[in-house]
Amino acid sequence: MLTVPTFSTSRTEIAGQPVADLAAKFGTPLYVYDREVIDKRIADLSDFDTIRYAQKASSNLAILDRIRKRGVVVDAVSAGEIRRAIAAGYSTDGGSHDIVYTADIFDRESLDLVIEHGLHVNCGSPDMISQLGERRPGSDVTLRINPGFGHGHSQKTNTGGQQSKHGIWHTQINDCLLRADQTGVTITGLHMHIGSGTDLEHLSEVCSAMEKAALEVGRTLTTISAGGGLPVPYKHDETYVDLAKYFELWDGVRNRLSEAFGHRLNLEIEPGRYLSAESGYLIAEVRSVKKVGENLFTLVDAGFNDLARPVMYGAHHPISVTAASGDAAAREEVDMVIGGPLCESGDIFTQREGGFVDSRKLPIVRVGDFIVIENAGAYGFVMSSNYNSKTRAAEVLIEDGEAKLIRARETFDDLIRGEVIPQ
Ligand code: LLP
Repeated sequence: MLTVPTFSTSRTEIAGQPVADLAAKFGTPLYVYDREVIDKRIADLSDFDTIRYAQKASSNLAILDRIRKRGVVVDAVSAGEIRRAIAAGYSTDGGSHDIVYTADIFDRESLDLVIEHGLHVNCGSPDMISQLGERRPGSDVTLRINPGFGHGHSQKTNTGGQQSKHGIWHTQINDCLLRADQTGVTITGLHMHIGSGTDLEHLSEVCSAMEKAALEVGRTLTTISAGGGLPVPYKHDETYVDLAKYFELWDGVRNRLSEAFGHRLNLEIEPGRYLSAESGYLIAEVRSVKKVGENLFTLVDAGFNDLARPVMYGAHHPISVTAASGDAAAREEVDMVIGGPLCESGDIFTQREGGFVDSRKLPIVRVGDFIVIENAGAYGFVMSSNYNSKTRAAEVLIEDGEAKLIRARETFDDLIRGEVIPQ
């Protein structure tokens, strides 16, 4: 099992590139990704027949291109993600399943794209079966089943149970078989995803739910998907899932079902966070250090428009300090609250769920130093916004010892594109 990294409170470089140099060259706030980390995480999952990356976690075209070259396929939750995958070179040829549309609804644009490119669909609602059947009779589909339970790192990322809008409720499989039959659709895949950032105990429950559901569908099945949800440690006391054990559980399910159906089933996994979280860093420059009552606030030039996870889920990210010159490791450590430039009190990177401001012990900082928010590669840039008319950050990929710009910083023109003042 992978050992939890030691999160240091100071750092001078990212993948061999000095943080201060990256900031000087590309500006701040800046997202930086280390390609080697993504490659390692892909290799960790190589026992599974298919790794289907949940591109929602980090979908820059360069990342998708590199992942594709490692043999990883993708899911797409929207028309935009379908177009992204195609732009990154994923094939739609000959009924290829390289891109699977996985959602709970078809909006009109995504249904048109699915038909245009002949994409396989993972249906999260019974209506999708009929809507696809009407447009493309004879389709093979996957069903995303809500097994009646779920678990995530936050209630907002729990995607199972009756509070969740996701998936086809587990007691409705038979109705779906009838509906599929009526519309000339064949169910060839089953998928379950109970939440993001969960643990082995909950993930294991999915195995037995899958086995039961698959036996109900029967021998038309050719693929089962374990979904995503694999956690990464954001704190010292958090762990990885024991992947060998996890694979063994799923392999057991696959083998029993393969025997029951008389053909070997394909076993998929659909990680987002696991592949990308630890590859990413958000660099921000310290712009003010001030005392507010008892609290020491360090204010930086990145806000929740750049990284929404702390304000949205109370998510904890490891944070380290880079001195503008010298090494922050030599400095005294003090408790500080780290916040951004936005006009809301929630614009704090050190907070707990429920919006409670928290402090972090870090090397004392001065204006012009940098803070590096770590494990920011999943659900970081992709959830960023233009709130407060902030332009979105640039993205850089480090590979082969070189830092390459993969997304230019937005400009004011990008910000107002499409806006019209009627005469
Ligand atoms: N498959 C499906 C159908 C999903 O909905 C998701 C995530 C995944 C796979 C990938 O899950 P992962 O392996 O990344 O846990 N914004 C939240 C996470 C939301 C995840 C939504 N669905 C966060 O920042 O924690």
